[in-house]
Amino acid sequence: MRYRGIFTLTAVILIIIVTSKFFMDSFHAHEKAKEVIGFYQIHNIFISATTTPEPKCSLSKPCPPDSFAFSIHSGAATVVGPKICFDGKNIMSHILNNVGPGLNIVVINDTNGVIEKYGYLNMITGDSGQILAYLKDIKPGMIVLVASYDDATTKMTDEIRETFVAMGSTLIGSLNHRDNWVFAGRAGTKIKSFYEKLLVSDEKTNVFDGWPGMVKVGGCFPRTVDDT
Ligand SMILES: *[C@@H]1O[C@H](CO)[C@@H](O)[C@H](O)[C@H]1NC(C)=O
Repeated sequence: MRYRGIFTLTAVILIIIVTSKFFMDSFHAHEKAKEVIGFYQIHNIFISATTTPEPKCSLSKPCPPDSFAFSIHSGAATVVGPKICFDGKNIMSHILNNVGPGLNIVVINDTNGVIEKYGYLNMITGDSGQILAYLKDIKPGMIVLVASYDDATTKMTDEIRETFVAMGSTLIGSLNHRDNWVFAGRAGTKIKSFYEKLLVSDEKTNVFDGWPGMVKVGGCFPRTVDDT
């Protein structure tokens, strides 16, 4: 019986030693884990801060997921080139050195936001027939962003105006010499676009000698949901 008592006592002491060592170890392990977790927490905060939706293209609010942010600035006289931003990227601008006189245009796939083509239609020295062919070649459904620069009417024809009406423009019919025009529409829909502005060139109000000021439009262009 006595042996049994000593054995039990020894066992209890052993258990206390082992468990306290275990607790000490786990405490150290925990401390280490905290350091590591602390590091990852900082890392996670950093990641989440960069993934929270930020407004794109200088808009005041982020766009809903079923739309694309865009902004369009016309040129100002012959001095400052136009700027077209789509989904957070400047596609055309003076700085990018890819703008020109006439109509600067970006054509975008309306389901995946892929930019199909961009460039400028030289409405001062270009070929009206080629400009019309370029516009007629845009597939129905495509998003079209347009900004004027310098003058957009020297080579303008009624047929060219009609292609923009077919994209939802209601102001293209009133576009005159040196007016500034910005427009976002959808090819082949004829649905009136909310995203269109015209600034008339008028000697009395022009801010530049012979040209009006810059005009801009921006917003969230609805994406076509691919239901295939
Ligand atoms: C847009 O891209 C999708 C996917 O690649 C394609 O199926 C569709 O035909 C394109 N839209 C147009 C108008 O070309």
